[in-house]
Amino acid sequence: MKISSIEDYQRVYKQSVEQPEEFWANIAQNFQWRKKWDKVLEWNFTEPSIKWFQGAKLNITENCLDRHLEAWGDKPAIIWEPNDPQEHHRVLTYQQLYEKVCEFAHVLKNNGAKKGDRICIYMPMVPELEIAVLACARIGAIHSVVFGGFSAQSIADRIQDASCNIIITADGGYRGTKLVPLKNIIDDALVQCPTIKKVIVLTRTRTPVSMIKGRDVWWEDEVKKVETQGATDFPAEEMDAEDVLFILYTSGSTGKPKGVVHTCGGYMVYTGYTFTNAFQYEPGEVYFCTADIGWITGHSYIAYGPLTQGATTVLFEGIPTWPTPARLWDIVEKYHVNILYTAPTAIRSLMSFGDELLEGKDFSSLKKLGSVGEPINEEAWHWFDEKIGHKKCPIVDTWWQTETGGFMISPIAGITKTKPGYASLPLPGIQPVLVDENGNIIEGNSVSGNLCIRFPWPGMLRTTYGDHERCRTTYFSTYHDLYFTGDGCLRDEDGYYKITGRVDDVLNVSGHRIGTAEVENAINMHSDVVESAVVGFHHEIKGQGVYAYVVCPNQHGDPELTRKDIMMTVTRIIGAIARPDKIQFVSGLPKTRSGKIMRRILRKIAEGDAENLGDTSTLLDPSVVDEIKEGAL
Ligand code: PRX
Repeated sequence: MKISSIEDYQRVYKQSVEQPEEFWANIAQNFQWRKKWDKVLEWNFTEPSIKWFQGAKLNITENCLDRHLEAWGDKPAIIWEPNDPQEHHRVLTYQQLYEKVCEFAHVLKNNGAKKGDRICIYMPMVPELEIAVLACARIGAIHSVVFGGFSAQSIADRIQDASCNIIITADGGYRGTKLVPLKNIIDDALVQCPTIKKVIVLTRTRTPVSMIKGRDVWWEDEVKKVETQGATDFPAEEMDAEDVLFILYTSGSTGKPKGVVHTCGGYMVYTGYTFTNAFQYEPGEVYFCTADIGWITGHSYIAYGPLTQGATTVLFEGIPTWPTPARLWDIVEKYHVNILYTAPTAIRSLMSFGDELLEGKDFSSLKKLGSVGEPINEEAWHWFDEKIGHKKCPIVDTWWQTETGGFMISPIAGITKTKPGYASLPLPGIQPVLVDENGNIIEGNSVSGNLCIRFPWPGMLRTTYGDHERCRTTYFSTYHDLYFTGDGCLRDEDGYYKITGRVDDVLNVSGHRIGTAEVENAINMHSDVVESAVVGFHHEIKGQGVYAYVVCPNQHGDPELTRKDIMMTVTRIIGAIARPDKIQFVSGLPKTRSGKIMRRILRKIAEGDAENLGDTSTLLDPSVVDEIKEGAL
């Protein structure tokens, strides 16, 4: 299943386009199925309806765990590095991880969980998070992991949307010097969530928490009960290839996040195949992905993809800047990391602390580097290449999305010639096309347009939970018979792809996807706010920052305090990750006569480019623009 040279890539790519079904059936042979498929692919992008490996039966955890036990039972699956470097790290071998997953699968069953249930997970980056995820998959329950930075309101929205009946959480979590009171946040969320019957609480920080009889149970107590019952194995639930594996919420151009749905068979094949190929993973290599399991990168390339391939993964609880901004380099040295996969925002942030921090650090174990989440600027690319990779480690700039499940356009480490800032070439099975505003496909090289994909791949989303129509309108209706990514892209003279950023109202702040409408809704919840408009602006470290124009005529005292009140409101409604970097109070927003906000103008002003605003004659009240220009931050 591994591509061995650029000629091999070209041959395999050609086959994957000409005979996609044969191609993927062949790849799928490398996985363990209880029953093979009757049909490889059935699809149409109109509904959309996408079915891979129909009729096949499997459980993804048998591929992640059971099948490795004989040969690799003693091999580390997870090396866990705690937030505080003084605390002991933990290593879980494949055998130990298997046992813990089985044990926790019993806990879930004992607490009433069954196949098809939706289970919300809100946990710190500890091995138990991965254990919880895998235990859900083992019993056939659908996990919905919510990133630890989201607020009670965001959790409640997600729980309600999927009607979850169980939550798995922890008393608290550590992030640098901060303690995040996870269970308290959950308690606030639960006021609005009558469907939740059980809350399973892991002790991590041993912070005082409220525990409600009949509803809240301690993780450790429940595990003890299983131990006393003497239950060790847990036979995996047999799943159809198209049964739902998980839901993961992500932001779009409307105010409400949507639950992207991935299914068992195709997702397994796709994440396993792309992990092994893009990183050219060799048995025994130590792989470190700095993402959080709360995002798709963690699902696909900390948990499932690497585990199906028997890889050893470093799981890091803390943040790259604590106790020093050399933390990631210390981890690389400590565990002899061979593959480091991180985000441009982290690279830019660590760069800004100066190269003295790199002195004396041992990077000799590193063989391959990866980048994900946003376009990587050339300066950061070169710094990563020279200072971290010492010019001997290929950088795989992997372009993909929550919806795509796995890498789509990416170099194959050491095989594809790289270019700074370019995600390079499509992986086998992926057929990218560029289209203009009218939906015409743009052929040839040295062109740019909106990025679409024209044929299904096994890892793609199947629907948005509870609202299939939304899936259709968001991804499959903009252009006929194409999946629309929401990204702008150029294809250079060599046919290499470079992603230029979102073309919809979605911001990418430190690699986190944030819908401008979502932030506006949160700001508008503040009692004194009349209306607001949110746009992005260039930010040295975060890539993009959040700039909010807010109409708020009745302020209580100092405007600085109102700014803080608005920040607090956004933190409460969405979470600290969506807090605006800049809030400018304005008396009105630039609107057309039909009442549409002219965001183009607001974007230019936020970027400091107020002199070239273009045509403003269609505005209802052009004078508002002068006021906004004068007050720009
Ligand atoms: O705009 C693209 C950007 O991140 C978006 C997907 O965000 P999310 O679903 O949160 O997944 C992030 C991790 C896969 C894309 O639409 N993006 C992701 N990777 C890259 C990127 N932009 C440029 N280069 C990348 N390598």
